[in-house]
Amino acid sequence: MKFFIDTANLAQIKEANDLGILDGVTTNPSLMAKEGIKGTEAINNHYKTICELVDGDISAEVLSVTFEEIIAEGKKLADIHPNIIVKVPMIKDGVKAIKWFTDNGIKTNCTLVFSAGQAILAAKAGAKYVSPFIGRIDDSGWDGTELISQIAHIYSIQGFETEILAASIRNPNHIIKCAELGADVCTCPLDSILGLLKHPLTDIGLSKFLEDAKKM
Ligand code: E4P
Repeated sequence: MKFFIDTANLAQIKEANDLGILDGVTTNPSLMAKEGIKGTEAINNHYKTICELVDGDISAEVLSVTFEEIIAEGKKLADIHPNIIVKVPMIKDGVKAIKWFTDNGIKTNCTLVFSAGQAILAAKAGAKYVSPFIGRIDDSGWDGTELISQIAHIYSIQGFETEILAASIRNPNHIIKCAELGADVCTCPLDSILGLLKHPLTDIGLSKFLEDAKKM
């Protein structure tokens, strides 16, 4: 399973990248706004900086919702760097645009996916990635990981090549579950990635070893 970090914060991206386990980055308009990135030029420069920091797929989301505008915006985003993946929302014009991008050699990440039906459409349109938002499903009282399992089953029996990019990760257990259920990628906040490191027995064991090492 590939590890992406879900942030537009450069310090966090560097920290995750320095661990040596990072395969890419996802951003969205909320994450960009949180970093205070405003205006087309600043946005594009920020994507370029991320692409130069991390050698992997970098999702950059379109802000348009009509077919023609999504195409125009997506082409400009794809021109920023060869590693840019154009992130397109799961709406009718978005599906049409994903198909157009696929036919024209531009890779896409279909975002805001909350059902297996939406995931089928994304795969049919040729998206490189489909992003089910499991944390937001959990927040609404359902089980987000069940959707990962359902999509993984459908893609496997149908031979769809679209990669399942589990998104809206809230904790380390989500990451473990996604790995277990066959997600191809997990995009995670830094805290959830670092949470995988933690175990009290590791800390207790290490202090004992360091203590005993003084007697060696
Ligand atoms: C996915 O690409 C999105 O950026 C993200 O995972 C959304 O997560 P949230 O529900 O924590 O906003």
